[in-house]
Amino acid sequence: MFRSIISGLGHYVPQKTVTNQDFETWMDTSDAWIQQRTGIVTRHFVSPGEGNIEMSFYATQMALREANLKNTDIDFIVLATLSPDYTFPGTACFLQEKLEIPETPVLDIRQQCTGFIYGLSIADQYIRTGMFKTILVVGTEVHSTGLDFTTRGRDVAVLFGDAAACAIVQRFDGQEERGILSTHLFADGRHAKDLWIETPSCREHPRMTQQMLEEGSWYPKMNGKKVFTMALKKFPEVIQVALKANQVELKDVHLFIFHQANLRIVQAVCESMAIPFEKTFNNIGKYGNTTAASIPLALSEAYQAGRIQKNDLVCLSAFGSGFTWASALIRW
Ligand code: UT7
Repeated sequence: MFRSIISGLGHYVPQKTVTNQDFETWMDTSDAWIQQRTGIVTRHFVSPGEGNIEMSFYATQMALREANLKNTDIDFIVLATLSPDYTFPGTACFLQEKLEIPETPVLDIRQQCTGFIYGLSIADQYIRTGMFKTILVVGTEVHSTGLDFTTRGRDVAVLFGDAAACAIVQRFDGQEERGILSTHLFADGRHAKDLWIETPSCREHPRMTQQMLEEGSWYPKMNGKKVFTMALKKFPEVIQVALKANQVELKDVHLFIFHQANLRIVQAVCESMAIPFEKTFNNIGKYGNTTAASIPLALSEAYQAGRIQKNDLVCLSAFGSGFTWASALIRW
């Protein structure tokens, strides 16, 4: 059985910065409300002509540089997004085209906020069995073209931002106990409608109508309090599962990367588990919630900032729509 390591990380955020003050001009909200309830100060939005394909391409170029690899070294692409550029084919097909690596297999996955950890888990299994040697795992999201920027949508619109980030997952042939130690995946579809987009829907005849457009059923809807409460319960559970599986203690972990949904969630989980806040890395203030991109974006920035050193134990955890929740423990 082989082990997988992360040999390169990359990220890309679009140039356009949107502030809380911008939101104040569009709807009944305030910078104070957004900052106090979420920790978000700015987020980035794509401009016309820019989508997941371009963002994930730039992020991939950075990760390949970091790993000292070429496009053609990629054996498989796993791409997580809840906001694909097109309904079909999957966004990974377009990324593969842009990377000019025809015949390389690609796989789009959903899983929303946990998409990157699910993707990492898939990549890890293919590496462990020996099927692939070098896998690109991407999390990418364009939220800004599908948010309700009126007061009706203020509970959701202020939270989200656009970005792409990725990891190169590679077979590790060395003897040391390094790499992805384990991944842990969970889901509970009973809560699927607590955070979802209802239309366009293949169940509807037709999938999209003028009425749906006007009613705003194509915007994301969230039962914020329920998501918040469940997140506080599931983050500690899923972190403990990862620690237990590897027989390590909380104090052994050097860095915790939480899905960046709300800074208050990270603070509350740290408090309940007695995790020193300095052991977390957070960039939600700059980028908002970038869903599938959130964990690799934090991971990539933490690595660039020198917060991750060789042999460090890094714990990733996420909770979100589905509900789905997941964790991964990595010896760097
Ligand atoms: O990544 C996916 C996972 N997502 C999450 O983990 C998000 C989890 N949920 C949350 O982070 C929080 O529930 C929110 C940040 C979404 C909301 O914070 P909250 O403290 O739960 O606020 P609330 O929903 O209880 O709303 C409090 C008040 C309401 O007004 P009333 O009813 O008290 O008069 C809302 O209408 O705040 C109002 N409100 C706003 N006010 C100003 C809601 N959104 C806004 C807004 N600006 N943008």
